[in-house]
Amino acid sequence: MPEIATTPFPDQKPGTSGLRKKVGVFRQPHYAENFVQSVFDVVDAPAGATLVVGGDGRFHNRTVIQVAIRMAAANGFGRVVVGRDGILSTPAASHLIRKRRAFGGLILSASHNPGGPDGDFGIKYNVANGGPAPEKITDAIFACACEIDRYRIAEAGDVDLGSLGEQRVGDLVIEVVDPVADYAALMEQLFDFDAIRAMIAGGFRLSFDAMHAVTGPYAHEILENRLGAPAGSVVNGTPLEDFGGHHPDPNLVHARELYERMMAADAPDFGAASDGDGDRNLIIGRGMFVTPSDSLAALAANATCAPGYAAGLKGIARSMPTSQAADRVAATLGVPLHETPTGWKFFGNLLDAGMATICGEESAGTGSDHVREKDGLWAVLLWLNILAVRKLPVAELMAEHWRTYGRTYYARHDYEAIATEGADALMADLRARLATLPGEMVAGLTVEAADEFAYTDPTDGSVSSRQGVRIRFKGGSRIVVRLSGTGTEGATLRVYLERSEPTEGQLDFATEDALAPLVAAAETILAIRAHTGREAADVVT
Ligand code: G1P
Ligand code: ZN
Repeated sequence: MPEIATTPFPDQKPGTSGLRKKVGVFRQPHYAENFVQSVFDVVDAPAGATLVVGGDGRFHNRTVIQVAIRMAAANGFGRVVVGRDGILSTPAASHLIRKRRAFGGLILSASHNPGGPDGDFGIKYNVANGGPAPEKITDAIFACACEIDRYRIAEAGDVDLGSLGEQRVGDLVIEVVDPVADYAALMEQLFDFDAIRAMIAGGFRLSFDAMHAVTGPYAHEILENRLGAPAGSVVNGTPLEDFGGHHPDPNLVHARELYERMMAADAPDFGAASDGDGDRNLIIGRGMFVTPSDSLAALAANATCAPGYAAGLKGIARSMPTSQAADRVAATLGVPLHETPTGWKFFGNLLDAGMATICGEESAGTGSDHVREKDGLWAVLLWLNILAVRKLPVAELMAEHWRTYGRTYYARHDYEAIATEGADALMADLRARLATLPGEMVAGLTVEAADEFAYTDPTDGSVSSRQGVRIRFKGGSRIVVRLSGTGTEGATLRVYLERSEPTEGQLDFATEDALAPLVAAAETILAIRAHTGREAADVVT
């Protein structure tokens, strides 16, 4: 097979979500090829293996898919399963890898980052369980990318990605599949579609914002065609290469229109959005935003409403910066609660080992053992199933939840694209002071404990250290501080603020008021202004 000589790109270090760079970086000659070859060299698939390929439809998606197909042919794969038009949401790709017993998959996405010629692009490799490659594989891929000197690629024309069915490049069979069908069938197995259909037929109104990203076709098919939501319930449902010029990030800043629709007098009963590649979710009830941490807790508390979870949960897992709301649910249900580092891959081992059923992150990622990625539409459907069974508006369901479990007020403050030196200095200063913080009184709060989170994976004993600083106050409130692993410009500082109120405490504060003392404490302890030069956070979610 033809081999092309190349030189390494030593910047190809995959982060928690694969390799993410500006499109311009990916368009350099040999750039994507080097990364894909490094993946193939490391994973060393047996001849004839199956590879799943698909992406979120962003600019450059089809180009890289054609390259990946020609390289799969030259590297001995037997079959590539690819979504029509190169489309596969991340959870649908995870499901397809599992269902087709593929050796692995390439997912082309930069998640919620903007797209288009000046936007971001990304490549992620998922392994046979459907989840992101573990760190030992991504480390090996990086090592390989630093010394690669050739890649293999078949000489062939473009595959027709628009036609379902099989085509060939040399000995490789390329199978173009409907990106939605298998995923929709899985959702029908997990959820009570009849109950949701009846609720919608009874006048329940929903609004789903696909943000011009990958979930459009999935939401049209599942919510409108199968569940009977009227046409127009799905908005921005056509995937665009540049997401219409927006950040496909389902938070209160970038999904502002949805938020405003849900706060209006004639708001629908339920609002939701998903991100670029379909793994995140935003949930808003009429007149009420549900924080992702609260959503995880409420979904876990009510999961048995859905047929797929009727047998109960084996455990709940949350990332460390996610609020402790789910911990109270786990305690009441009598199931284990696992606190993991940020990034979905840490949940995969727990799910594989049967130690957890539902997982979630504060960054709007929720999912379960049905796939090995977080899953935006899955969360939407579980919410709908619960509402259909409990027959309560979202706001009442949450009020009842807080009366039962207590309330955790929560916000994340992001300082984006700050200078790396300032960000590193802030973290270094903080680490140096950790031992002296306990006992200090800051903005009326007393520090009870301060440490840097490290995680030992209970399934394989692997250790991940330096996963973010936790500052705990008397009464259970917390500040968590870490630097983002997914930004593509400078550094992003994330400060997570959390205040716990017991069942008999203050359950109806406005979040901003509830968190004001923690905001003040964060500035005093971290000196954010001095280190970043920023007066306030760029994004509060
Ligand atoms: C962010 C989120 C994290 C998520 C990751 C991938 O990572 O905070 O929860 O798993 O994106 O979607 P971060 O930029 O914080 O490293
Ligand atoms: Zn995503």
